[in-house]
Amino acid sequence: MGDQLETLRDDVLEAVEGAADLRTLDEVRVQALGKKGRLTEVMRTLGSMPPEERRGFGQRANVVKEALETALAERRQTLEAADLERRLVAEGIDVTLPPRPQPLGRLHPVTQVTEEIIAIFADMGFAVAEGPDIDDDFHNFTALNFPPEHPAREMHDTFFVEGQPELVLRTHTSTVQIRTMMAGPPPHRIIAPGRTYRCDSDATHSPMFHQVEGLLIDQHTHMGHLKGCLEDFCAAFFERDSVPLRFRPSFFPFTEPSAEVDIGCRRTKRELVIGEGSDWLEILGCGMVHPAVLENVGLDPAVWQGFAFGMGIDRVAMLKYGIPDLRTFFEADLRWLRHYGFVPLDLPTTYAGLAR
Ligand code: PHE
Repeated sequence: MGDQLETLRDDVLEAVEGAADLRTLDEVRVQALGKKGRLTEVMRTLGSMPPEERRGFGQRANVVKEALETALAERRQTLEAADLERRLVAEGIDVTLPPRPQPLGRLHPVTQVTEEIIAIFADMGFAVAEGPDIDDDFHNFTALNFPPEHPAREMHDTFFVEGQPELVLRTHTSTVQIRTMMAGPPPHRIIAPGRTYRCDSDATHSPMFHQVEGLLIDQHTHMGHLKGCLEDFCAAFFERDSVPLRFRPSFFPFTEPSAEVDIGCRRTKRELVIGEGSDWLEILGCGMVHPAVLENVGLDPAVWQGFAFGMGIDRVAMLKYGIPDLRTFFEADLRWLRHYGFVPLDLPTTYAGLAR
């Protein structure tokens, strides 16, 4: 019996040392210590032994079992370490190599610029709000203080939905002002980027274009805040210390007073530089929310006030990235997109940089 145990031990130890990989090692383990393993079978004979033999044999069998377990564990560690080493070599990445071309394609400048705008206003505490592209006359006009039959309704070259004259393709994102103010109590601080539609088409106008609306309603915000907010935005967006802004008196039915905002620039035959020079370019409309609009959404204008603005996303994208023709935005030309597009999965932030 003693010999049997020793032979078994030596056999198994030899097999353990010889196991070249983890799978073989596991087979060795099962053959020795598994349910039908050699040592297990031997231990099973204990019961039929005379008691005086049983004790000594049992003890020795246990010593063998421990020796085998230790050997198995050690061998496993060695094999695992070798395995890891092999994978580290095989799967190593040389971070100094140039990147592979992007299999993900490029982000459209409108997507990129929308993300940039959201990042900047998010830093100022504005949430993103949304509304439907097809909206009704109430949200697009009436609640925004466009009087019935007023020429301002035509000013927008509205697309109406056939057979449903109360439905329109929204002509501006100001619809979301109304939706926001009707959805819950003030204060409000939102921006609403999205698609807008007007029946108009040339190098700087497209029947579908993008706007971002801004709305801030509380009890103490005045036009000075509006100005500061837009100045901070423009400096951040055009990535300059400051950008000169010019507020021109204007008219919108839903703001009073109203202004159109130009940014300072220098235009030459070859280039356009934003933020310096003596030329001006219009980029947005804005004003203090009209008391009649506040009343239309059930707010008391004696208590609540605030500002709103609406900016053309495509327009500021063209200015910032030097894209000359708006129509190219919507032609889905891959060569254009490769040239003007942006690296995906690289979200703009105000601290790490807006564009890459
Ligand atoms: N909705 C206006 C437009 O499309 C822009 C605007 C928004 C003006 C908010 C003032 C306040 O022209």
